[in-house]
Amino acid sequence: NKQERNIRNIMRNRLPNKILNILETAGQMAEEFGTEAYVVGGFVRDLLLTRNNLDMDLVVEADGIAFAKKLAKKMSGRVKYHRKFKTAVVILPDGQRIDVATARLEYYEYPAALPTVELSSIKMDLYRRDFTVNALAVHINPSSFGTLVDFFGSQRDLKDKTIRVLHALSFVEDPTRIMRAIRFEQRFNFKIGGQTLSLVKNALKLNLFSKLSGYRIVHELKLIFTEAEVLGSIKRMNELGVLEAIHPLLALNTSREQVIAELERVVSWYNLLYLEPEISIWKIYFLGICMGISKPKIEQIYNRFSFSQTEKREFVHLRETIFWAAGNIMNIRGELRPSEIYKILSPVPLEGVLFIMARTTRDIVKKYISQYLTNLRLQTVDITGDDLKALGLIPGPQYTKLLYETKLACLDSIVKGKDEQFNFVKKRIKNLYNF
Ligand code: CTP
Repeated sequence: NKQERNIRNIMRNRLPNKILNILETAGQMAEEFGTEAYVVGGFVRDLLLTRNNLDMDLVVEADGIAFAKKLAKKMSGRVKYHRKFKTAVVILPDGQRIDVATARLEYYEYPAALPTVELSSIKMDLYRRDFTVNALAVHINPSSFGTLVDFFGSQRDLKDKTIRVLHALSFVEDPTRIMRAIRFEQRFNFKIGGQTLSLVKNALKLNLFSKLSGYRIVHELKLIFTEAEVLGSIKRMNELGVLEAIHPLLALNTSREQVIAELERVVSWYNLLYLEPEISIWKIYFLGICMGISKPKIEQIYNRFSFSQTEKREFVHLRETIFWAAGNIMNIRGELRPSEIYKILSPVPLEGVLFIMARTTRDIVKKYISQYLTNLRLQTVDITGDDLKALGLIPGPQYTKLLYETKLACLDSIVKGKDEQFNFVKKRIKNLYNF
């Protein structure tokens, strides 16, 4: 029960001309190539949901790599490809990426596949995907440009706001789809359908998560943790037993839930400030779901996630500096000078500073952290290493120390302007080294 309708006008109304041109060019090229080409997946879903998404995934019923090379040439772009997967990406001069995949029947030897004789390549390509809402295609060949092809009731599910798998073995083939289902459910405010939910529960009962590599789990968690709203997904993962399936120590409790809710507020506040440098938001939520896990036990989590030595060290450092700084800043009584705030917070990576901000319930501490993030940490001193050299000081660790001390003095307005800073270090050098 394939359904077709032309959405050319919707495309013209909703897509930027640049994107329309790319699709038309690719469609013409498919015609010259003697093949059928489609734009598929999240791009089509978001077009129908009127959400911006300019990541184009094309599927051609021919050699996708040869097609991509030709498209790149025509549009003066570059091409990168994966021989093994018969996929390519065209990168246009302005940075726009176009993914190109090959729809080929022999790819899809899934146990749950329908009898292959009945299926066109594009149908097979869509059938192997995760959810009906991601399994729509729009034909882009000139004669049928804009024809929406719906084999699996995807439009109905979009209308009913339902996340539904295409076949019963979907989660067995790829258990990370459980996390994707939750992510899409929360992002679009959809609901996982009844049967699909039973399949989720079944997959968890069968312990399919234990077979997943740490790398794949972390990849999915990062995607969830970079969504605009995170708490809903975390609660849903907990409710369905996904967090516990990843590791029993990750089961949600009230205090973690409260902190994650506050993290969401702090992160969106921080994002609105557009400060440099950009930070890894996912690390902050990662700290949130691991909150309260003791030092010896957290090793189990790092191991489950197959963290590299570097990643482990990074999290150990984050947790230790947070512990130290939070202890200092949360227990203060009375006013803190800017330099004191800076001394406490500057050793902590920014992800950790935001975490402390979410954890504290004291307004004054939140104010200090805000002052640090938006002002103190960004203030620069005017004197440089060259000035210290000019004073005859031999380069070494004392340079960092002196410049740090100058910064502290500037923060407290003890010294102002370059001349005063210069005199300040001169005095310090005299005190320290007697010259
Ligand atoms: N896909 C899948 N199973 C997965 C991952 C991806 O079937 N485990 C399919 C989906 O059908 C998806 C397509 O591959 O449409 C591309 O994946 P991705 O770029 O992750 O999906 P989008 O739907 O574009 O998601 P997002 O909006 O988060 O980018």
